[in-house]
Amino acid sequence: MVLVNSEKMLKSAKEGKYAVPQFNINNLEWTRYILEECNRNNAPVILGVSEGAGKYMGGFKVVTNMVKGLIETLGITIDVCLHLDHGSSFNSCKDAIDSGFTSVMIDASKYEILENMRITQEIVDYAHAHNVTVEAEVGHIGGTEDNISSEIYQATVEDCVKLASTGIDSIAPALGSVHGLYKGKPNLNFERMKIINETLNIPLVLHGGTGIPENDIKKAISCGISKININTELQIAWHDAVLEFVTNNKEVYDPRKVIGSGETAMKKAINDKIKLFFNR
Ligand code: 13P
Repeated sequence: MVLVNSEKMLKSAKEGKYAVPQFNINNLEWTRYILEECNRNNAPVILGVSEGAGKYMGGFKVVTNMVKGLIETLGITIDVCLHLDHGSSFNSCKDAIDSGFTSVMIDASKYEILENMRITQEIVDYAHAHNVTVEAEVGHIGGTEDNISSEIYQATVEDCVKLASTGIDSIAPALGSVHGLYKGKPNLNFERMKIINETLNIPLVLHGGTGIPENDIKKAISCGISKININTELQIAWHDAVLEFVTNNKEVYDPRKVIGSGETAMKKAINDKIKLFFNR
């Protein structure tokens, strides 16, 4: 199976009223766990790579080769999309596309809408010429990711319509979700989510999937969310298991055993999300 862009998988999700997970990857082990668990469940997946994670793994080219290699040697048969998460500039998105990513997110949401549109349009033109799909953000998703923090600022329907006019393939309207852990209860604007979904005919993306209660996830899917991003929750599942292992096995220093001690917990977290997002 070769890497695919997100067009078909998100279109099917929108029609079928389920959500495709974007699981963020940080290293070889995580990528393998995600691919194996999604393949076992016959669930398409989007592998999200932040700019920081890409750099950590040795650059986008290394990531593409690693993912393609794993798909081949593990015999993965599901659709896999390799996606740049929160691309911050044209050059970053271009680098991902030229390195073989099949989807990019351009996050120009810190600019006012006209500038956001201008930057997004440049990426759409380049990406579509390379059969790569584009996600863009409007409003501000709050919280902290890759050490970058921001306040919540909810997207308006008007700005979503404007951003969609650039020809993007999916849109991430900030509607109250945050990256990382929530301080207090999540408060998503489902009403506006529904209106945006009815107004635009492209799939909606929910960032900051960690810590959103199951019922809110189901409601978000019923309001038109077709892709949900999960990062922190996998990190916590992996970390807690590794911490327990290290605490109880202080004499073990083989990195394969240390890193691998998080495999079962992480796969369980992945499996739980698949069941929830695909209504299984
Ligand atoms: P969480 O870290 O809150 O799961 O958010 C992930 C995300 O939205 C990646 O873009």
